[in-house]
Amino acid sequence: MIKPIVAGNWKMNGLMTSLREAITVGKAERRSPEPTTVVICPPVTLLASLACDLSRTRIKLGAQDCHAVEAGAHTGDVSAKMLMDAGATTVIVGHSERRSDHAELSRDVRAKADAALAAGLTAIICIGETAGERNIGRTLNVIERQLSHSLPDGSTASNTIVAYEPVWAIGSGLTPSTTDIATVHNSIRGQLQAKFGSGARIPILYGGSVKPTNAKELLSIPNVNGALVGGASLRADEFLGIIHVCDEIYADSD
Ligand code: PGA
Repeated sequence: MIKPIVAGNWKMNGLMTSLREAITVGKAERRSPEPTTVVICPPVTLLASLACDLSRTRIKLGAQDCHAVEAGAHTGDVSAKMLMDAGATTVIVGHSERRSDHAELSRDVRAKADAALAAGLTAIICIGETAGERNIGRTLNVIERQLSHSLPDGSTASNTIVAYEPVWAIGSGLTPSTTDIATVHNSIRGQLQAKFGSGARIPILYGGSVKPTNAKELLSIPNVNGALVGGASLRADEFLGIIHVCDEIYADSD
């Protein structure tokens, strides 16, 4: 069994007062062992504080981006090594908002993922089609190309997570049908097996409008090994709702 992961992406949200939401999640999740690995990716300004606050919990900390080099003249950027130093274990790379807001290409994403792995972080590599690409039937081609160009050769099940996030499903309240998600996740699994062999059990998360109300349906789809959650990760009650659905599904499957 691939151990499930629920990761929360706070995006550019969260002030010091928001730490209490994460602390509430941490308090509720102090008990181990539950099946789900929980990751919270706050803005970088909150990383070091949360690293202290969550040190006695099972919550891992992630960042939302990193630079491709370790240090140097890159004003405003943060390296993977710095994130590790601040207490992160994980970093998201290639989120569609980075790809569109900062014109990041898959080769840039791969360079960032390489840097993350070199620093000892786990990389969550995001891929996903736009509404336009989906409407002309290009979803699987786009996913295959983004994955092959974004994924480091050194990826393994312990340092890489793939997140399938249809761009049109992010923050929209819309989700693909369970059949469509299963088709994409099967295709990603096949591509990972072709590259790394069937033993490479890299987790594949679904992201895009995951809520407590649809989590059971989405997390029960074959080859969906967890969720990358945006809006619903900002509130402790909603995020805990998704985590508990995941725990229940995987407790049942033992
Ligand atoms: P959402 O965002 O859950 O708010 O749709 C998901 C994401 O962008 O990771």
